[in-house]
Amino acid sequence: MSSTNIAWASPHYWGNEERYVLDALQSSWISGGAYVDRLERDFANYCESPYVVAASNGTTALHLAYLAIDLRPGDEIIVPGFGFMAAANVALHMGAKPVFSEVDGATWCMTAEDVEKCFTPKTKAIVPIHTYGNVCDMHSIIALADSRGVTVIEDAAEAIGSKYSGKMAGTIAPLGVYSFHATKTITTGEGGAVATNSAEWCKRMQLFRSHGMGERRYWHEVAGHNFRLPNMQAAIGCAQLEEVVKITTERDRVYRTYLSHLTNIPGLTVQHFADNVEPLVWAIAAELDANSFPQGRDAVMHHLQKLGIETRPGFYAASTMPHLYGDMMLPTCERLSQQVISLPSSPTISDEDIEYVCHSLKSCRR
Ligand SMILES: Cc1ncc(COP(=O)(O)O)c(C=O)c1O
Repeated sequence: MSSTNIAWASPHYWGNEERYVLDALQSSWISGGAYVDRLERDFANYCESPYVVAASNGTTALHLAYLAIDLRPGDEIIVPGFGFMAAANVALHMGAKPVFSEVDGATWCMTAEDVEKCFTPKTKAIVPIHTYGNVCDMHSIIALADSRGVTVIEDAAEAIGSKYSGKMAGTIAPLGVYSFHATKTITTGEGGAVATNSAEWCKRMQLFRSHGMGERRYWHEVAGHNFRLPNMQAAIGCAQLEEVVKITTERDRVYRTYLSHLTNIPGLTVQHFADNVEPLVWAIAAELDANSFPQGRDAVMHHLQKLGIETRPGFYAASTMPHLYGDMMLPTCERLSQQVISLPSSPTISDEDIEYVCHSLKSCRR
């Protein structure tokens, strides 16, 4: 039995984080500065994206992507009903309407078939969420978007480093959004970025990021925001990117070790990844069948907590929050929101602790 508490996630410093933060601090460039430019360059290289715009977090990065495509009040975006709700919430703040699609019961991601049912004449964009490090079926979603003349914005906040048919998540569509939150695969504490293949959108997002001011100081070309990432935060990200091979190797180890313990357990199904997805799994998660775990997912979580294991529930389905998102029926999203559990997934968790987590989870089976 493990003697320590096993956190669901904990940020880790892999190399030069402290040195670079101190350097940024001593340079007196504590707002913008060279580390922000470097992070944008390094992340663009890592993702193989022509342009990257850093932002203060993943939510403001989504907002920038919406501003790039000129999302207006009354427009609609199609988002999955199971996933972290930032993409929907930002749309609401802009006076746009999130229309929620179902998701696939095995991959927990939206499919083109789900999306097709959500189109209206007001649809402006599709925002697939690559939940837990999976990648949605982008070929069919992009083909559908092209046939309807709408844009696709990937929410790749949880899928940094995952690949789809050899391409980095977040660079398959013309716009992709990332989060560098403390738990994410590459972190800056709080931070985010948008990748795009469009020089024009890049420029537009840079403008909106900083009060709408271009070359001419105090001249506002557009009504912008302050969505800038500070230099000290970017310094952490630069150091993390230097060690991305190590981070990837450790995350792969964690995922594979979990799989070796969790496959072929009746009543427990780990998230499915399609053959053309090479996931860099952000959170290892499984669905607990009600027959094998009749006490329910929440009781299992509670039991694990008592054993010193921190877990998280699946995302609440949009249809369970009608006060925000309106009435709708999303049975698969609701099933997942009740039955999915995500397990401690830090890249630094030991194999021994993974075995303990899996053993404890299995012991909850009835
Ligand atoms: C899928 C998804 N989108 C967007 C966000 C928002 O990112 P942030 O917390 O950096 O604002 C998150 C993360 O928390 C997320 O998981």
